[in-house]
Amino acid sequence: MLKTHNCGELRAENAGETLTLAGWVHRRRDQGGLIFIDLRDRWGITQIVINQENEPDVHQKAKDIRNEWVIQVTGEVIQRPEGMSNKDLATGDIEVEVHDLNILNQAKNPPFYINKEEDNLDEALRMKYRYLDLRRQRMQRNIILRHQVAQYIRQYLTNKDFVEVETPVLFKTTPEGARDYLVPSRVHPGKFYALPQSPQQLKQLLMVAGYERYFQIVKCFRDEDQRGDRQPEFTQLDLEMSFVEREDVLNLIEGLTVGLVRDVVDGKELYFAEFPRISHREAVEKYGTDRPDMRFDLLAIDITHIAGRSGFSVFTSNAEAGKPVKAIRVPKIGGWSNNQIKKLHSELEDLARKEANAKGLAYMAIPEEEEGEVRGPIGKFFPTELKLELFEALNVEPGDFLLFMSDEAQIVRDVTDVLRTYFRDNLNEELQLVNPDQLAFCWVIDFPLFEWNQDENRWDPSHHLFTSPFEEDIPMLENEPGKVRGLQYDLVCNGYEVAGGSIRIHRRDVQEKVMDLIGLEVEEAHQKFGHMLDAFEYGTPPHGGIAAGLDRLVMLFAGEPNIREVIAFPKSQQAVDVMAGAPSVPYHQEQLDELHIRTVLPEGEQEP
Ligand code: AMO
Ligand code: AMP
Repeated sequence: MLKTHNCGELRAENAGETLTLAGWVHRRRDQGGLIFIDLRDRWGITQIVINQENEPDVHQKAKDIRNEWVIQVTGEVIQRPEGMSNKDLATGDIEVEVHDLNILNQAKNPPFYINKEEDNLDEALRMKYRYLDLRRQRMQRNIILRHQVAQYIRQYLTNKDFVEVETPVLFKTTPEGARDYLVPSRVHPGKFYALPQSPQQLKQLLMVAGYERYFQIVKCFRDEDQRGDRQPEFTQLDLEMSFVEREDVLNLIEGLTVGLVRDVVDGKELYFAEFPRISHREAVEKYGTDRPDMRFDLLAIDITHIAGRSGFSVFTSNAEAGKPVKAIRVPKIGGWSNNQIKKLHSELEDLARKEANAKGLAYMAIPEEEEGEVRGPIGKFFPTELKLELFEALNVEPGDFLLFMSDEAQIVRDVTDVLRTYFRDNLNEELQLVNPDQLAFCWVIDFPLFEWNQDENRWDPSHHLFTSPFEEDIPMLENEPGKVRGLQYDLVCNGYEVAGGSIRIHRRDVQEKVMDLIGLEVEEAHQKFGHMLDAFEYGTPPHGGIAAGLDRLVMLFAGEPNIREVIAFPKSQQAVDVMAGAPSVPYHQEQLDELHIRTVLPEGEQEP
């Protein structure tokens, strides 16, 4: 080794030792006779000192050194004098007085600071120089945390008798509902492998094969529009178990998650010691989304029965047409000045229109003092008696701000989600809604098995086509598929879906019925999933499983705003690797010829 110790481990006890360190120049201060260098490696920073008087040759060499050069030093550990310790540094009680200096490599001036966190550092620049970006402390912390999370998971599941099995990357289409990435076959002209969107089929086949407890930390590929919590390739903790019921899978993952937060994650705490369970229906009705942020309320309360008796025609006619009227009660804002309220309301109304297709957003501002007037244009449509009834239904307190939504049920849900997200992200300081250091995990259960696809005029599986219906709902598959509940479950945290899974169908007749309902022709079903249907005839055990988005979990654990921050080499929002320049045109035309591929560019686009 070119070093005897690392830059994070030296303490006062090491004083007097002679040793060798190697790493990067984090920072350098030239004070004439003394040059101080913060030497950095993966484990930390150690201050080294070069004294002109004692080591004139070394001092001469050190004068040229710049940030990010790679150096090796040999010297003696000195305890810093009383009062000179650096409390911000784990090694702050000592420094190393250098006797020998070896410049291992020079460095160009980096395009951004490695030694300090810059605000608004350009993301494209970071991605282009990702290897430098990854040198930064924040990134090192994230990547190492990710490693620790993965190690913990492996140990936890190994202790519970799981077997890690690798499944192929060159495979066939998988049923997760995104577009496939296709890989052309050279040997079979015109044929393609699909990269797996998840190992769903293979893990179920491993259950048929008798492994009973499988897991894998595995790359999945989905060609879909990018968002902060989506990447074209991402990592799942994927697992499957035989002879289990829903509770068994939930308990396993809950135990793992609690263990991770307790033993691996720093600076975060669980909001719920036991993860609450909320039905899909309750989640969408109260929170407006199936991935609720349960750290705060601002719940949508149905007040159709009250608003339907008001004099406001929008509400009465909607109520008559079976469309809901709901209200959200926001504390503290009701006492704001007219101008402040107008400004906030118009911003919220714009958002509701733009992002949720709402037609309007009515409000009432409840005064802080008893005798004050209710402000807002719809107050006059609620006679005093009805107002009191409304306030009771909403548990209104002085100083509340009430927002009213009325439309098709789905629009009202979308508005609810838009408003709650707005308050959390923009008014947290005033309203004290969430503490960013808390993780509110919850289970969303009892999903409908199908969602109606208006455009295609058919039922779509709300999870995937292997999810089992509730046993007692199977008879409804025939006539009322919309009422059938699925044994699906999602783990949600702070508004993110971090895991999803289900108990599977293990009977061929039920599987065929589901395929039929989602409009999968028998022939297509056999072409795509024939191997699964065949397998189901050879003694398939009841089984179920789940997959967690490892990137999303680590993002939440690290307190980062998007998953790119916890992936070593992520793709940009445009699904591009900016550093390497991928995707790219093959350098040699022969590569395409061999694959029997000719490209047809979209109209107006130039040959690159
Ligand atoms: P699902 O499609 O819900 O289930 O995926 C499981 C989890 O993977 C994460 N995830 C993603 N993370 C980053 N980028 C993406 N593009 C992305 N897509 C999904 C989410 C999600 O909860 N085979 C089933 C699991 C099962 O039934 O066992 C599946 O893949 O956190
Ligand atoms: P108007 O009588 O049209 O001025 O509307 C009075 C208030 O009701 C305004 O704040 C509108 O934004 C609001 N409003 C209109 N339509 C709806 C609706 N469908 N749901 C909730 N509020 C609405």
